[in-house]
Amino acid sequence: MTKGFEAPSNRVLVLFGATGDLAGRKLLPGLFHLYRAGMMPDDFRIIGSGRHTPEDFVAHVEEALRTHGRMELDGHWAAFSKKLSFVASSADDGSELAAAVSAAESEIDAKGERLVYLSVPPGAMGDMVKMLGKTKIAENCSLVVEKPFGHDVASAKRLNATLHGVLEEESIYRIDHFLGKEPVQNILALRFANGIFEPIWNRDHISYVQIDVPEDLDIQGRAAFYEETGAFRDMVVTHLMQILGIVALEPPSRIDAESLHAERTKLFEAVRPLDPERAVYGQYRGYRGEDDVDPKSEVETFVALEVFVDSWRWSGVPFYLRTGKAMAAGRRTVTVGFADAPLQMFANHDPDEVRRPSELVFELSDDPKIWIDVEAKVPGPKLDLGRAAFTLDIERAFGKPDGLEAYERLLHDVMLKDRLLFTRSDQIERIWEVCAPLIDNPPKATGYKKGSWGPQRAIDLPGDPGWRLQDDE
Ligand code: BG6
Repeated sequence: MTKGFEAPSNRVLVLFGATGDLAGRKLLPGLFHLYRAGMMPDDFRIIGSGRHTPEDFVAHVEEALRTHGRMELDGHWAAFSKKLSFVASSADDGSELAAAVSAAESEIDAKGERLVYLSVPPGAMGDMVKMLGKTKIAENCSLVVEKPFGHDVASAKRLNATLHGVLEEESIYRIDHFLGKEPVQNILALRFANGIFEPIWNRDHISYVQIDVPEDLDIQGRAAFYEETGAFRDMVVTHLMQILGIVALEPPSRIDAESLHAERTKLFEAVRPLDPERAVYGQYRGYRGEDDVDPKSEVETFVALEVFVDSWRWSGVPFYLRTGKAMAAGRRTVTVGFADAPLQMFANHDPDEVRRPSELVFELSDDPKIWIDVEAKVPGPKLDLGRAAFTLDIERAFGKPDGLEAYERLLHDVMLKDRLLFTRSDQIERIWEVCAPLIDNPPKATGYKKGSWGPQRAIDLPGDPGWRLQDDE
């Protein structure tokens, strides 16, 4: 899985939605960082596209980099800015764009596949893909498709059929940036590069798993997107299910895209369709007053639910997934709770007290940490127990990470045609199938206070010992 900092061959990159939120916050700063790190091709062009040409695209990118980038706009900016241009296009007409792509490819003697990034609303995706086929922009192309991939089983199947009408599956990169997060890959490393975890990674030793991604931010002006998407489609069908796919998969025979995809497909097949009775939706108070939100909106800004994987490994082990906007904390935490010791024999074990069992905790943040919480002896004359942790501090172990953010890593992977950390059409369709009961029969969203842990029913959902994160605060 280790990949050197290979420089991809010369190519043109086309960004649809180039003046949108994602491009401004992540994609354009990401490409600049890759350039600064020497990870872009020797020569390349970035062609922004969208329906409306901005007054000054280069100035727009400069502003985005100043606001969201992590690096100074030093001498590199002048050279980078010369590689930028904007050509308007729409689902009805991409001829001017196609001509611009060909011209840019001749100019830089492009050898690599053009990278086309579709960051457009799900409803617009299908027609855009057809346009790419018609104009032949889809030829010799790695197409990156931003989530959500459709909005239910039927639309996901339609979108996949449209994509497959224009491109081979191998050229389609369905991006879920959580898979590009460094610590998510560490779950794979820890599980499969060590002999100590796999023997206990099953229903005999694990009593629950929590995938908990509370966000302290609200919708931050993304009302149009959010009103259409909601927390379930925005986060659960995508990021949280993808993390579940990493935590729960069977050991692949190799760490390569093909083996991993085979295992992930098998795993998602085993995920039991969700039970609306075991799901809680919430909406933070004040959401309906946000600009451009319907004052009667029923859209959920919070979801907590229980998932089961019906396999020999996981039968009976509940996976609790939770995410929401405007919550008490901003965290991305995976907790694996182990079975209790069969006998409580230490004096200060009160049999009526609910204690957390040993837990393995992955903190999927930019400062990744992994803990194992255990009971240990408190120093002193008595054999008393207290909670203590083994901690793996990645930064302390290996020094500062290379500084690549998830989107940067994944864009680089696309240029090297490395599909390991992307998702595949059969998995996406299966996830939508699993999620269909909630889409067809969504729980009514209950109000919750901003800055809280969501509705009480959600807090109670996992039963004892409760959500780890809340205990943690
Ligand atoms: C995005 C969602 O995909 O992921 C956002 O659309 C969410 O609503 C974001 O805030 C979270 O990503 P990260 O990398 O900040 O954890």
